[in-house]
Amino acid sequence: MRGFFISFEGTEGSGKTSVIKAVVAHFESKGIRVLTSREPGGIRISEKIRDILLDKDHTEMDARTEALLFAASRRQHLVEKIRPALEEGKMVLCDRFVDSSLVYQGVARNLGIEEVYQINQFAIEDTLPDLTIFVDVRPEVGLARVFSTSGREVNRLDLEQLEFHQKIYNGYLKLIEMFPNRIQKIDGECPIEDVIAQAITLIESRL
Ligand code: TMP
Repeated sequence: MRGFFISFEGTEGSGKTSVIKAVVAHFESKGIRVLTSREPGGIRISEKIRDILLDKDHTEMDARTEALLFAASRRQHLVEKIRPALEEGKMVLCDRFVDSSLVYQGVARNLGIEEVYQINQFAIEDTLPDLTIFVDVRPEVGLARVFSTSGREVNRLDLEQLEFHQKIYNGYLKLIEMFPNRIQKIDGECPIEDVIAQAITLIESRL
């Protein structure tokens, strides 16, 4: 029996990481075996690639290098962690997956959704999430949250201008049009309990 693969997407400060934690607790309390992970990272080699990607000093990083490193990190994560968990029948909740590359590198870095999809296809070989939850928070609201939350690490990509984040947000809206069945939007600007409830309802409707 194959498990169920869910990815969470959103702009910076969308709150998806807190939503994932609550969703995991909900399904584990029902006796469902859940694996959580994140991208870039989730496994030793991929966490090392994450360090290279998010290092604030790496200002000279070329956009294609960035796209290839995200895809490389994804490949290792997929074969070492996600696929084995799915084969064991687990529910896999992943904080970001291929759609992040399609919008951050494809749209915001102007590499093109199709081009970035192709290099990712080499990495994922058709393993796409069964469901992708887009936590919808407008970029100005998300960024305000990021910079007002003390203790939240500000990474290299956070420092890009609001315009960049607006492009990402628009990129997600475009992906929702391209994959209307797989990618579902929830309202991330309402109180956190409501955001969590929307995510749980959506997942339960697909199980
Ligand atoms: P996060 O762990 O705070 O979500 O940060 C990861 C950053 O990396 C975030 O700015 C989004 C970015 N990212 C990409 O640009 N492409 C990708 O494929 C992934 C997974 C993340």
